[in-house]
Amino acid sequence: MGDRDEVPSDGASNDESSQSPPASFVEQANVDEDLTDTFERTWPECWDRAGELLEWDDPYATVLDDENPPFYRWFPGGTLNASYNCLDRHLESGRKNHAAIRWEGKDGERRTFTYRELYVEVNECAAALRELGVQEDDVVTIYLPMIPELPITMLACARIGAPHSVVFAGLSAAALATRMDAADSEYLLTCDGYYRRGDAFNQKSKADNAVLSVDANVTTVVVDRLGDELPHVLGSNEYDYEALLEAHSQETVEPVSRDADDMLFLMYTSGTTGEPKGVVHSTGGYLAYAAWTARTVLDIKPEDTYWCAADIGWITGHSYIVYGPLALGTTTVMYEGTPDYPDRDRLWEIVERMAVDVFYTAPTAVRAFMKWGKQYPERHDLSSLRLLGSVGEPINPRAWHWYREHVGGGECPIVDTWWQTETGGIAISTVPGVDEMKPGSAGPPLPGIQVDLLDSDATAVDPGETGYLTLERPWPGMAETLYDDDERYVAEYWRQFSDPDAGEWRYASGDAARADEDGYLTILGRVDDVLNIAGHQVSTMELESAIAGVEGIAEAAVVGGSNGGDVYAYVSTEGATDDGDALERRIIEAVETEIGPIARPETVVFTPELPKTRSGKIMRRLLEDVTNDEPLGDTSALRNPEIVGEIQSAVRDQ
Ligand code: PRX
Repeated sequence: MGDRDEVPSDGASNDESSQSPPASFVEQANVDEDLTDTFERTWPECWDRAGELLEWDDPYATVLDDENPPFYRWFPGGTLNASYNCLDRHLESGRKNHAAIRWEGKDGERRTFTYRELYVEVNECAAALRELGVQEDDVVTIYLPMIPELPITMLACARIGAPHSVVFAGLSAAALATRMDAADSEYLLTCDGYYRRGDAFNQKSKADNAVLSVDANVTTVVVDRLGDELPHVLGSNEYDYEALLEAHSQETVEPVSRDADDMLFLMYTSGTTGEPKGVVHSTGGYLAYAAWTARTVLDIKPEDTYWCAADIGWITGHSYIVYGPLALGTTTVMYEGTPDYPDRDRLWEIVERMAVDVFYTAPTAVRAFMKWGKQYPERHDLSSLRLLGSVGEPINPRAWHWYREHVGGGECPIVDTWWQTETGGIAISTVPGVDEMKPGSAGPPLPGIQVDLLDSDATAVDPGETGYLTLERPWPGMAETLYDDDERYVAEYWRQFSDPDAGEWRYASGDAARADEDGYLTILGRVDDVLNIAGHQVSTMELESAIAGVEGIAEAAVVGGSNGGDVYAYVSTEGATDDGDALERRIIEAVETEIGPIARPETVVFTPELPKTRSGKIMRRLLEDVTNDEPLGDTSALRNPEIVGEIQSAVRDQ
């Protein structure tokens, strides 16, 4: 195998050719026995194995309290501090001079923090936050790009028991303000600006705009990332990060003992009904699960150099750049830049130079690597790699084979990990030293996780049939609730398939999937109208309402292109428009301002009308088929079938 022509064709199923992990991998794997039966027999006590990976101030009384479902309490009675578990205990175990974070910035700028150095800076930052007035349980919003101050401020918050709410740095001022208001957050940690592809971006002006519209009287801390390149002036209630740390030089802060179910952080994720959802994660259950899955699935060892090439602004970075790897005492790599700057071999150059052992990325990146060609990974010695991971969307067999062949030297096992912001950590994946891999299938549920695929009547579907992906049992990494909205938590995730009168509770993931005869799961994506743009969820409703807010626009429907990265916007105007280009620019601006550049439509198609059912619902499914040049399904329910041909030719003309 080698060239693109030789790899199997695609399809939304696995390619049936299961592959065993190589003996050399199995020999050294953290987990080399199938734990499924053991976990079945001993559930829920089996999760003690996750709890044991942490150091507790007070031991937990039991593993699970399920008295009040679906509000499960993991490790009740236990108390701990997440920053202590990610830092202090490694100093005590002789790892103080071991690298905790290896950061790679723009143009080869580099910073390494040993566990000791990270401990010092986290403590100084924690002392500074206290002095600014941050108290236990205050939500601190962090709006920082991929610079070391992002994990440092997260851990400083954790140290003083203040939940953090990290907002992805690329999101707009409006998105930041909505999230701060929703969390009643009075503290903002941000920076002057940052580099992307060599250009300086102004982050502070976005933060300023957000603060103007936030209800609370906000205290802001600003990291000076760009120095003279982007001078900024601090206003009232604004503090310079570096100066604060200097004022607290070498101070230490006693880590606050938190109850296992106290909130460690909040993470906003798009919902179908517009308002973003503030997913609440616990200190004990979440951290134990992040560490356990990082050890079991990503096979992380303390002596490894491990790289998850995601952004910490999303859950993947929280669990698998920061909390999981640091809890295990490993070296975690953080990369500020993009994979193709200054050249398309940037990632492979880093893998070679740092001798990375485990590499974890998203299929959208793998597809880009494929498009660029094998010559880029071939320029480098990637033999340090032992395991590859994939997350965020289905990885099609062709991309899977390419990844294994050209990045993994034909040898590395690949873990295709399914999970969600709400699950806190990986829930479906092969265990790499144990299970066979089937390209195109994420694999079986992890030990201890019970997946059922159901039809809309909550009846299990047969192998090969598509069903709603549901989880029958709680697991330690699960969200505790939605911030300040228990009711919405139950409504969004539990109501659909649970039978509370019978005492039966079941988590609805919102994804559809199919199982094969061996129980391997092929994930088919969201069942509702959330777009997965380059691995990030964006609600179609949020997008459409941003576009429809532009003057002159009557209605909009957005769908995703089959390559997963592109947004197509179908737009009908109010009356005839002769300046489509100007209108298109205004649409793009509106999306960038209200949601952020990641959601910017690649293609805007103007149409006199959108295809609608007789009941007036836009037929998105049909637009998806048109977008992806697929045969059109049944159009008999359409009120305006004549419009379809017009839209098809408009798309072809693009
Ligand atoms: O649709 C699934 C898809 O990403 C969704 C979760 O997105 P988010 O909460 O942003 O978390 C992303 C990082 C975990 C899921 O509902 N998804 C995630 N991993 C996979 C996947 N789809 C298919 N295969 C995966 N491995």
